[in-house]
Amino acid sequence: MQRTHDCGSLRPEHAGQTVSLAGWVNSYRDHGGVIFIDLRDRKGVTQIVFHPQQAEAHSLAQTLRHEDVIWVKGTCLRREAGMENPRLPTGGIEVRTAELKLLNKSQTPPFTPDEAGKVNEERRLEYRYIDLRRPRMQEILSVRHRAAKVIRDYFDEQGFLEIETPFLCRSTPEGARDFLVPSRVIPGSFYALPQSPQLYKQVLMASGCEKYVQLVRCFRDEDPRADRVAEFTQLDLEMSFVEQEEVMAVAEGMARRVWKDVLGVDVPAIPRMSYKDAMERYGSDKPDLRFGMEFVDVSDLAGQTDFKVFRGALDAKGTVRAIRVPGGGKLTRKQTDELSEWIKQFGVGGLPMVKIEGGKLATGVAKFLESIKDALIQRLGAAEGDLIVFGVGSPAMTVFKALGALRLRLAQELDLIPAGLWKWLWVVDFPAMEWNPDEKRWDSLHHPFTAPLDEDLSKLEADTGAVRSKAYDLVLNGSEVGGGSIRIHSPEVQKRVFALLGIDEQAAVAKFGFLLDALKFGAPPHGGLAFGFDRLIMHIVGTTNIRDVIAFPKTATGADLMTAAPSPVEEAQLKELSLRVALPQKPVKAAPPA
Ligand code: AMO
Repeated sequence: MQRTHDCGSLRPEHAGQTVSLAGWVNSYRDHGGVIFIDLRDRKGVTQIVFHPQQAEAHSLAQTLRHEDVIWVKGTCLRREAGMENPRLPTGGIEVRTAELKLLNKSQTPPFTPDEAGKVNEERRLEYRYIDLRRPRMQEILSVRHRAAKVIRDYFDEQGFLEIETPFLCRSTPEGARDFLVPSRVIPGSFYALPQSPQLYKQVLMASGCEKYVQLVRCFRDEDPRADRVAEFTQLDLEMSFVEQEEVMAVAEGMARRVWKDVLGVDVPAIPRMSYKDAMERYGSDKPDLRFGMEFVDVSDLAGQTDFKVFRGALDAKGTVRAIRVPGGGKLTRKQTDELSEWIKQFGVGGLPMVKIEGGKLATGVAKFLESIKDALIQRLGAAEGDLIVFGVGSPAMTVFKALGALRLRLAQELDLIPAGLWKWLWVVDFPAMEWNPDEKRWDSLHHPFTAPLDEDLSKLEADTGAVRSKAYDLVLNGSEVGGGSIRIHSPEVQKRVFALLGIDEQAAVAKFGFLLDALKFGAPPHGGLAFGFDRLIMHIVGTTNIRDVIAFPKTATGADLMTAAPSPVEEAQLKELSLRVALPQKPVKAAPPA
């Protein structure tokens, strides 16, 4: 089936040429016997005209409907003056058809690509092949392809090798639940699908590969969110004989290249912020720097008041932090009451607040703050119509996290996030471990293979919470697009870290013996990073829904609505795998009274 052009390429300079196109019937109009069809392929839409004079083609054209697949041959003509469509790149021309072939008739589709924007997502996922015909989705797939190509070229130029690592493997501790695959040959044994290639890439460094990269699928059985799915793609890399700065430079170079080549946007040198600063100033380890609303420490002023809530927190060695919410004065009492309730889920008692009205503090807790009002307004730079909210409590970290969540919510609801900004940030100097009060043990903040800072190594056991790690996260507009670290290459240090995490020697050998061995037999110092590839694409194409950038994504419950996976399997398959399914017992309903 010969095509001379695609549906996006004809222009007035092609007028007079005989052309052939193929695609889908996007729309159909009959104007007094002349039939107009918008023919669509992945490159665009072209108007096709059928005149009654071409009797055979015209009578077949009369039978065409949405999503029929056709081939046409005809003459490219400049549209008459006044009939051009400036919204279409091909809007200056039309194709007058001499020949038409119906390649495949479509039944009435559940929705047309044009309607897909109004159809609920579940239906779009069920009929994903129709959804993907939308120009927007075709553009996303093509951007994704281009970004992958730019990335591969970049790493190739830098001397990296793309090396595939297994999908059927032992569990990797990235913090989520594993997807398990039963072994048929060894009954009762299971593979885990990789949460990341972390351990393999470290072993590749011990294997002398020096520079590894992989665009790789990862699997995590965790609750999906807008930017998190169970099956996603990482751009994973690892390097030998490097320090933190070198890994960060390579990653930053990649971000710069992709943004330049795909979007034409220059990424300036990416600033850095310590984890401590990020938490104290924005209440998040991935602060969104597109807007202000930075926290201001007002504990000293709070200490000058008699306000019991403030005093209580300060007496408990807590803190009082304030945020100026520009224009927040317009929030109604109902809205502010709701915020005070909402914030309690983050472990603070409520949300004291005041408005600035007529140059004075008004409403809320204004009456308690009379003595500090001028100093407070000045320190926050508050102006007429603003709202000042206070994060109050102990420990300070609880206050930071609560205010961090509030900052994001208010910025979104009050529309304070400017569009069209790219705010990149490296967050560095993470604590190596944090205390898990439920399990009464330390948890790694990144993963157990992350190296502590050299100067903090001596206090690993004595002051564990204060130990910082050689870890770094790359943040874009408040989303974590990448993260990595320099790894532990000393088997001794690795054992000490396992011990703190409650992984005893026997368990360490059972789970990671191969890695400990690899470290023993000449592993070079190494480190790396992984980007969330889907998240990068989300930013590039401007969507907040990760499923938009994945051709066949799973829903929030992990279902593939098109193929209806997951699904029960045949009894024979289970038997072969030595498995028996024990579904949880449904609660028995009491029988209704006779
Ligand atoms: P981490 O767990 O931080 O690090 O993952 C790296 C990046 O992958 C993306 N990401 C996800 N994207 C979509 N859905 C998910 N469920 C999901 N989980 C993570 C994020 C994140 O920054 N092995 C380490 C990396 C290393 O240390 O080199 C790792 O996997 O953008």
